[in-house]
Amino acid sequence: MPDPRPHPDRTSEICVVGAGYVGLTAAACFAALGHHVRCVENDAQRLSSLHEGVIPIFEPGLDALVAEGVEAGRLLFTSDIAEAVCGADAAFLCVGTPPRDDGHPDLRQLANAANQVAAAATGDLVVAVKSTVPPGTCEAMQILSDEAAQPGVRISVASNPEFLRESQAVDDFFHPDRVVVGADDDRTRAAIASLYPSEWPMLRCDRRSAELIKYASNTFLALKISFANEIAGLCEQVGAEALSVLAGVGMDQRIGSSFLAHGPGFGGSCLTKDVSGLVATAEALAFPTPVAQAVLDVNTWARNRVVDKLTALLGPLAGKKIAVLGLAFKAGTDDVRDSPAVTIVERLVAQGATVTTFDPVADPEPLRRLRRAGVFDAAERAEAVVIATAWPEFALIDPKRLVSVMAGSVVLDTVGVLDPAAAAGAGLEVVAPGRSTPETYHAVMVPPLEWALDAALR
Ligand SMILES: NC(=O)c1ccc[n+]([C@@H]2O[C@H](COP(=O)([O-])OP(=O)(O)OC[C@H]3O[C@@H](n4cnc5c(N)ncnc54)[C@H](O)[C@@H]3O)[C@@H](O)[C@H]2O)c1
Repeated sequence: MPDPRPHPDRTSEICVVGAGYVGLTAAACFAALGHHVRCVENDAQRLSSLHEGVIPIFEPGLDALVAEGVEAGRLLFTSDIAEAVCGADAAFLCVGTPPRDDGHPDLRQLANAANQVAAAATGDLVVAVKSTVPPGTCEAMQILSDEAAQPGVRISVASNPEFLRESQAVDDFFHPDRVVVGADDDRTRAAIASLYPSEWPMLRCDRRSAELIKYASNTFLALKISFANEIAGLCEQVGAEALSVLAGVGMDQRIGSSFLAHGPGFGGSCLTKDVSGLVATAEALAFPTPVAQAVLDVNTWARNRVVDKLTALLGPLAGKKIAVLGLAFKAGTDDVRDSPAVTIVERLVAQGATVTTFDPVADPEPLRRLRRAGVFDAAERAEAVVIATAWPEFALIDPKRLVSVMAGSVVLDTVGVLDPAAAAGAGLEVVAPGRSTPETYHAVMVPPLEWALDAALR
């Protein structure tokens, strides 16, 4: 069958540093585009699993694509940076930039990788930073690379931020909304652009702009979630339905429904880190970013509210048995980095609750002793169940069976997957954020309404 994917005009030799969610996806997808890719990974366990053909992360479609690339001889994995860089036209740095306590990202992995690549290069090389970094980082990496490179070797550092979403990373790579290429000269921009099919939407700019596009995009996505949570809280007070309100708002094409969803707050390895990174960057320049700061504050409120709601429903949680369904930061991934579900579990444990958990895929080592084999094992004798990740299988939970194994009947559905009518019919008391309860509902409306009534009746 002919390959329906668009292809770049020519094939190149590519080195990818880091085989995590971004690096492994980029390596397999570049190989599928016809390039020859050598992917360097310095975690011995990750590398040996890749050599055995086992994908160390859960990402739909990635295992087949990696197998296809390896079999075609266009994709190999190594720990040897010199082997990976030798003869490469471009090197992509896809290493972690985890958050520090002060909000800035920790750039040590990136500096190491840039240093290693530059030192190993035997000819001129374009180095593209796919990791998410604050503006100015590529310039710093340029200085570092210039110092590390062998005499006569020219390294050109560029920014090529990655926008993939975990759980649909492969699809996102092949159908990008845009590919952003930031460099300080046309030749470098053209070299990176030529690695992608020419049909794909491409934005060419300078390095700092490219770096900031990524930070600003993630801040805006997080803003939509925090906004949705704030409106959902207001819905509870005024007796409106958050699902309807947000659907109605999102149908406006100027706004859009994507990411306009309420729940237990945003999480994952990127959003909190990148909004914090943007705020920290601005703070370092004494430039106020109150909108971005509010995004973080509302997110903390949204997360804390889940356990607060449970306390309001059950009283003090010490000694109570609570089941938490879902640990991944969203459905379709095993990633628990900065997961709201994990925060909920930790807060419940800290308050003395007896917690059991179940997630279809995620199985983080620190919480393993709390994990049960399935939904009903976790819910056994629970006084309340919290649904913390929107796995589609949770929508299929039989409410009659659930209520029969639980000791209580409260289900706090933070992600709105259950059918409230069916659950209520089975005897479950479903509480979902964004729907008012007798405790939050205000029968008498706000002052302007009283004023209008007064005026009308006078
Ligand atoms: N995960 C996402 O959804 C996503 C999306 C867009 C952008 N990003 C950004 O991309 C970057 C990578 O994210 P990730 O989730 O893939 O991280 P990750 O931690 O899953 O993967 C990074 C990998 O790089 C390896 N590594 C680090 N230094 C190395 C070196 N010198 N040589 C070889 N291997 C090395 C690590 O062992 C690890 O396997 C981050 O900056 C992140 O913010 C992530």
